Amino acid sequence: MKTEKLLMVPALIIWMQVSQVNGQQIQQIPPSLLLQEGENFTTYCNSSSTFNSFQRYKQRPGGSLVLLIILLSGGEVQKQERLAVQFGETRKHSSLHITAAQTADVGTYFCAGAQ
Ligand SMILES: *[C@@H]1O[C@H](CO)[C@@H](O)[C@H](O)[C@H]1NC(C)=O
Ligand SMILES: *[C@@H]1O[C@H](CO)[C@@H](O)[C@H](O)[C@H]1NC(C)=O
Repeated sequence: MKTEKLLMVPALIIWMQVSQVNGQQIQQIPPSLLLQEGENFTTYCNSSSTFNSFQRYKQRPGGSLVLLIILLSGGEVQKQERLAVQFGETRKHSSLHITAAQTADVGTYFCAGAQ
């Protein structure tokens, strides 16, 4: 009997969740990402409305929702280790950047805006 070696390439899957606040839709772009470990990525939450604050949450597979960051003013940038979140100057969008993605980054990321 012959045995075959299976070559596994580590990949990270990041899902984005579209949220709705007072009927105002926030679009997450892109909706999902498949990454290799070590890659950098940026995602956006864009809206046609302006917000007073943006919150970013993360849910690991099988885990509970965890608040990552709250942004309170336009143009603000907050960093946590390899994570950087920015609140756009126009207060209509927020970007989330992860440097050198790791397996710990796998999960669903939510963004919520308050008006
Ligand atoms: C990721 O970003 C860091 C910091 O900006 C940079 O040094 C690195 O080369 C980037 N890695 C890739 C794979 O683009
Ligand atoms: C989301 O907003 C960012 C920042 O303004 C912009 O660069 C990007 O193109 C927008 N994406 C879409 C799909 O509207």
